[in-house]
Amino acid sequence: MLRHFPLSMFQLHLLLLLLAPLTASAAQYCSLKPPTSVNSASPVGGIQHSTNTTDGSEVIASAWYPGWLATDFPPSSIPWSKYNAMTFSFATTTPDVSTIALDDVSAQALPQFVSAAQSHGVTALLSIGGWTGSQYYSTAVATSENRTAFVNAVLDLVSKYNLDGIDFDWEYPGKTGLPCNVVNPDDSANFLLFLQELRTQPAGANLVLTAAVGLQPFVGSDGEPMEDISQFAAVLDRIAIMAYDVWGSWSPTVGPNAPLNDSCASASNQDGSAVSAITLGLAAYGHSFSVSQNAAINQMGSLALYPDFDASTQPLGSADTPGDTSLDPCGDPNGVSGIFTFAGLISGGFLNSNGTNATGIDYVFDSCSQTPFVYNPTSQVMVSYDDATSFAAKGRFINDQGLLGFAVWDVTGDQNDILLDSLHEAMGIEQDCE
Ligand SMILES: *[C@@H]1O[C@H](CO)[C@@H](O)[C@H](O)[C@H]1NC(C)=O
Ligand SMILES: *[C@@H]1O[C@H](CO)[C@@H](O)[C@H](O)[C@H]1NC(C)=O
Ligand SMILES: *[C@@H]1O[C@H](CO)[C@@H](O)[C@H](O)[C@H]1NC(C)=O
Ligand SMILES: *[C@@H]1O[C@H](CO)[C@@H](O)[C@H](O)[C@H]1NC(C)=O
Ligand SMILES: *[C@@H]1O[C@H](CO)[C@@H](O)[C@H](O)[C@H]1NC(C)=O
Repeated sequence: MLRHFPLSMFQLHLLLLLLAPLTASAAQYCSLKPPTSVNSASPVGGIQHSTNTTDGSEVIASAWYPGWLATDFPPSSIPWSKYNAMTFSFATTTPDVSTIALDDVSAQALPQFVSAAQSHGVTALLSIGGWTGSQYYSTAVATSENRTAFVNAVLDLVSKYNLDGIDFDWEYPGKTGLPCNVVNPDDSANFLLFLQELRTQPAGANLVLTAAVGLQPFVGSDGEPMEDISQFAAVLDRIAIMAYDVWGSWSPTVGPNAPLNDSCASASNQDGSAVSAITLGLAAYGHSFSVSQNAAINQMGSLALYPDFDASTQPLGSADTPGDTSLDPCGDPNGVSGIFTFAGLISGGFLNSNGTNATGIDYVFDSCSQTPFVYNPTSQVMVSYDDATSFAAKGRFINDQGLLGFAVWDVTGDQNDILLDSLHEAMGIEQDCE
């Protein structure tokens, strides 16, 4: 019997919370009170939410923790009380199906991460894959023999690090991500078989299993998005839809990184949005573009939407190291990402420390995508990003749609919890601290 109860670890934590004797030393235990008025769960893009939210009993407040940044952002710097699930990223696939790798910094930080999470009643997950770590997912699930070996490798990690769950961030089954990833038309079907096998193992039955997927999750063997992915819903506790990186340096013009809506944009600018895919994933970062003043500022003197940009000049983002010559797993230069975290926009002089646009920086809030843009006319850098206003809009959307909650990429991007607090407020989440 494959049935498992969604959020079992979360409920277990709540239970433990009730049972936990109040000790004098009381490491502060907080639980998150969900919004009081969430709509009934609705079938969404073929996924029937397995959680009954009509009683408003559950909300998932989660983010990804970038393990490779542990030296600058140790697990102790996470505002644990504002989350109930946290996902350590990334363990990576390797040519050997029995080996799932962690870089040295991550391997050292993971035990601290898990014990910090669990001591705060937060579900500790480990994410496998990511943009640069999904190279051998396809081979790992390709045959019955490999699936069994991969199930064992996953369960070994769970046991070694005392994890509560695993996040599968395969970018992407059946579709090219990083150019040298192995891709097979049967990836989605094999992935499902793997997940089903994992659930049949005693140690896998009660794990929290999640997946991070693109705006069009799970393509079938014909390369088209699958219409019915209910079988995935039966084995996964939840899916985080990565409703970001919709526009970036690869796009024809500047556009919103993480649009909430696109049905009001012109047809050629409808590249997918949370409304058409139902997001749970939120971006605490933006993409930068080099835009001339003529293109950036319209005749009314305000920032233009979807202006042309100079693709040959990618501005350095706050997440870039100048002169970086590192290579990705395919052997290609990592290059300049152009990504600014929200905190990086503040330290980079685009925003004041309270998150509003700094002196001399132009700002526009696009009422369609419900996301902001800033522009520095001197450096001619434009950034499409998320701020407290767009996080609040997405929080209301999560409630209105009766979604389970949110997953932020990533937990280190915020500054003084400006984004997170805005989201909590919009969703009506209250911390219940003892
Ligand atoms: C969901 O919960 C409500 C309130 O507890 C209950 O009336 C309803 O039958 C449940 N629906 C499902 C599908 O479980
Ligand atoms: C199974 O895994 C091994 C590595 O452990 C790999 O060499 C092999 O190609 C995989 N099988 C398939 C069909 O991909
Ligand atoms: C998206 O835009 C359409 C058209 O403007 C509007 O009717 C709809 O309410 C918007 N949805 C959200 C969630 O903002
Ligand atoms: C944000 O900070 C700026 C600069 O310190 C200040 O001028 C502005 O009034 C502040 N805005 C809010 C809403 O606090
Ligand atoms: C913020 O942006 C608006 C719109 O571009 C602009 O009018 C305002 O002057 C900017 N704020 C500051 C402090 O420069």
